[in-house]
Amino acid sequence: MNRVRPDRIRACNAWLGIARALLTFLLIGTSASADAQSGTAAAGADPHVLLQRYKCSICHDETQAKAGPAYAEIARHYRGRSYGRRNVLRVIKQGEHGGGPWNMPPHPEIPDREARVMAQYILAVHE
Ligand code: HEC
Repeated sequence: MNRVRPDRIRACNAWLGIARALLTFLLIGTSASADAQSGTAAAGADPHVLLQRYKCSICHDETQAKAGPAYAEIARHYRGRSYGRRNVLRVIKQGEHGGGPWNMPPHPEIPDREARVMAQYILAVHE
């Protein structure tokens, strides 16, 4: 007779629970609408996926200031300024402490290609 093994099932459920908790953790801090598709999007070139993966969303939102300024605010600040892209890339890689209560932490581990995708996206966010 084929016996179902309850211990196996229980272990499997536990893993599912952990996976779900992790996913929830990763999704916290995102703006609900714009990032809804990020879970399924192919990794790499999608700025939403990258902003989640590198946990930028914990401190940044599209339009609301959190610990860090809203992307729309950053975009407005740099609009029409040719050095915007360069500055933003530098801040992503090296971090910044402009005097506010919070730091922008450095992210030297982010490949240039991915930093560029995020910078380009951030600078194009509109209110
Ligand atoms: C721990 C919170 C935190 C995290 C995580 C974080 N930031 Fe920031 N970020 C900040 C703060 C605070 C500032 C404002 C820094 C200042 O000027 O003092 C900032 C500023 C910025 C700026 C504005 C740069 C400028 O020139 O004005 C950009 C762009 C930015 N962050 C992008 C990102 C990206 C992309 C990520 C993920 C790779 C990220 N941040 C992760 C807190 C964070």
